[in-house]
Amino acid sequence: MLTMAIPIKSKEEIAGVKKACKKTASVMKRLSRKIKPGVTTESLNSAAEELIAELHCKPAFKGYMGYPKSICTSINNEVVHGIPAEGRLLSEGDILSLDIGVVYKSFYGDMAATFAVGEITAEAETLIRTAREALYNGISSALNGNTLGDISSAIQRYVEDRGYSIVRKFVGHGIGRELHEEPEIPNFGSPSIGPYLENGMVFALEPMVNDGDYRVNILEDGWTAVTEDNSLSAHFEHTILIWGSKPQVLTEF
Ligand code: MF3
Ligand code: CO
Repeated sequence: MLTMAIPIKSKEEIAGVKKACKKTASVMKRLSRKIKPGVTTESLNSAAEELIAELHCKPAFKGYMGYPKSICTSINNEVVHGIPAEGRLLSEGDILSLDIGVVYKSFYGDMAATFAVGEITAEAETLIRTAREALYNGISSALNGNTLGDISSAIQRYVEDRGYSIVRKFVGHGIGRELHEEPEIPNFGSPSIGPYLENGMVFALEPMVNDGDYRVNILEDGWTAVTEDNSLSAHFEHTILIWGSKPQVLTEF
């Protein structure tokens, strides 16, 4: 397979991606306040569409490879790409992963986070915290002069050392003028291998962490990924900029 070089963003491109990411984070923050028992995932999708339009953005996911909605809403054993639906209600004790992408002036921002719906179990809390910390552990390795494998292995080690598993079927990605650019960024692998990281690379890192086995199935809707053993799953994603010894998190809120 021919692999393309990893794009290094110009000053203008970095400024553009930063703006798109700020908007993405703002949508996430405002949408997350609406999460509570009794709310449907369809209503979250509609609210997201309004927020995205208000910020003069377009949803990045709608129509992407035929994806029918503007955000992904994945509940409990759903790993990623859950499709918002009118009949799908959030219940007390659920965990909900929101994945949001926006386009602003031809630049993309992409992020995800997992939230508690009302009171959740201590086990679910720990899973969510581990997935968030796994992402930040990966970000800490996203340094000029490190390799792609350093990010992958940092995420995998963090997750597996704590008795959880890391999903292999989906990966992080470069991002910029496209939602998905080079490189693919697996959340597992060996340190010191793969291409070197350089200042100006922009990546979406997105570990998916399962309480049980790492394997997933895709439902008949063609999108929703669920854990094969029905265990809970959490997902966190940030768009980041490689910048010397301090990566910048562009989708922080
Ligand atoms: N964050 C996910 C990704 O980077 C969300 C994509 S959903 C899709 O692939 F519908 F757009 F595919
Ligand atoms: Co992504």
